[in-house]
Amino acid sequence: MSSNQTLKTTLAGFHLGSCLMNASGVHCTDENELSGLLNANVGALVTKSCTLESRTGNPLPRYANIPNGSINSMGLPNHGLAYYLEFIEKSQYLHNKIAILSIAGLSKKENLELLKNADKADSIKLIELNLSCPNIPGKPQTGYDFEASEKLLAEAFEISTKSVGVKLPPYFDMVHFESMATVLKKFPVAYVCCVNSIGNALWINVENESVVIKPKNGFGGLGGMYIKPTALANVRMFYSLLDGVDIVGCGGIQNGQDAFEHILCGASMVQIGTTLWQEGPACFDRISNELSTIMQQKGYATIDEFKGKLKSMN
Ligand code: DHB
Repeated sequence: MSSNQTLKTTLAGFHLGSCLMNASGVHCTDENELSGLLNANVGALVTKSCTLESRTGNPLPRYANIPNGSINSMGLPNHGLAYYLEFIEKSQYLHNKIAILSIAGLSKKENLELLKNADKADSIKLIELNLSCPNIPGKPQTGYDFEASEKLLAEAFEISTKSVGVKLPPYFDMVHFESMATVLKKFPVAYVCCVNSIGNALWINVENESVVIKPKNGFGGLGGMYIKPTALANVRMFYSLLDGVDIVGCGGIQNGQDAFEHILCGASMVQIGTTLWQEGPACFDRISNELSTIMQQKGYATIDEFKGKLKSMN
């Protein structure tokens, strides 16, 4: 990184050394992977979305790399809440870095129970409430049901004394952006992360005329290059609709320019999913260098100088 460019940022009031982090689900399921992130060039890390009890998840193969992207239907394989609480407890004295707990209960009751238990752990400072897992057969993505989202958030913010952000599914319709923004404005959300994978996509291997993952007849969450324009639209819309709420951008970040675009749309922090899966934690050094170089070329010393400053054409 060149000397006078800095990628430092603030998220939910926390001062972080870098605006890069992992996307939940990638490189964060077990202690080995999480430790790899602790030692990586990131400002935060987020754990695999967890349930109260551990889960083995969907049958293999449940993740596939595709050209410039990925498709997955993992089915929430995770070690259960206690495992991630213990990891965060051990890593709580990080300098300029924060470990975020991601939770994804399979019901409102389970989400509230997760929050209640996490509330007892002093080391938990920030929680990402996942409203958007697309891969559990028979369970809709909460974020697509505005009433259910509001009911969950009302009780969640009643129960939790922690800072709680939300991870949203991608939206594609102006009315839906506005409906979700109206719900979110009712609560003190710590941040809004846009977007989770585009749910229930289908990738085909033409040679063998087959789907490429086993669960759900091949339907799974799409990540990578295909979703960047949708992710940018979601970051931009929620940045505009939710005045002053921190936005975390996620979707299609393969290089420094992609990260720059997310920040230009309003992201304070960016999450890397597919690219981290494919390259491992070394991707954070590469993307940091690329982003710093772009900033240097454009004369920006900090990300705050261009964050949210996307120009319209008039
Ligand atoms: C899983 C996938 C997601 O996109 C998510 O948000 C949570 C869990 C999964 O299949 O494990």
